[in-house]
Amino acid sequence: MSTNPIGIFDSGAGGLSIWKEINALLPTESTLYISDSKYAPYGPKGKEFILNRAIINTEWLIDKGAKLIVVACNTATTNAISYLRNHYDVPFIGIEPAIKPAALTSTNNTIGILATKGTLSSSLFHKTSERYAQHITVVEQVGEGIVELIEAGKLYSDEMKHLLLNFLNPMLEQQIDCLVLGCTHYHFLTPILKKLLPNEVRIIDSGAAVARQTKAILDQNTILNTSREAAFYEFFSSGAKDVMASILDCETSKIIQMP
Ligand code: DGL
Repeated sequence: MSTNPIGIFDSGAGGLSIWKEINALLPTESTLYISDSKYAPYGPKGKEFILNRAIINTEWLIDKGAKLIVVACNTATTNAISYLRNHYDVPFIGIEPAIKPAALTSTNNTIGILATKGTLSSSLFHKTSERYAQHITVVEQVGEGIVELIEAGKLYSDEMKHLLLNFLNPMLEQQIDCLVLGCTHYHFLTPILKKLLPNEVRIIDSGAAVARQTKAILDQNTILNTSREAAFYEFFSSGAKDVMASILDCETSKIIQMP
């Protein structure tokens, strides 16, 4: 079991930000990564749709031998992780907007959260927010359209810059000093955000924390790969492959088409 791969899924290429952290921390672990890009974005589509896709991705990864599953998508985590944990035997790691670290970092108790509609409207997000952000102001912003632009290969476009300025300006007017990236796709915006935000606004991303948690849970379940066999990394897509290939710096032929 310990030599089996880790399964990872997202609605698209965003979860590759998590895959990179996991691969850097755990290079001996084999991985299977699903970009469910045919069905992206998940964010605007409602809980039932997101849950259904999470189930399909999970069962596919389990069929291929995944020993643990990382839901590398805030939208799928906040809408589906409790169902997945209750219905499948493998351990699950999820990712949620990092409200707690932002609340602890903020010096003026005002933080901004950029996430999808599906995440911000989920009950798990509200519970976490009530728990860790009771005494602080949380400025929520739906990043409508960002995932679509990233999946269309328009990360560094003027369109993206304008969209981001529209989202950031109202947050800056409210004096946020931390910006939580509540969607794994948004990690790739970091260089752009650094140019658009004043220096004092901290960008909070939780990819590295997810990788550390993955290691801890593998260890706890005694399924860390300790063999010397070379690890394999397989990438699957239900839709487009170009953006994935450019992030991974590989040929699109390396990405396997899935239904
Ligand atoms: N990367 C997903 C997340 O973290 C994107 C959601 C979407 O497809 O809208 O939420």
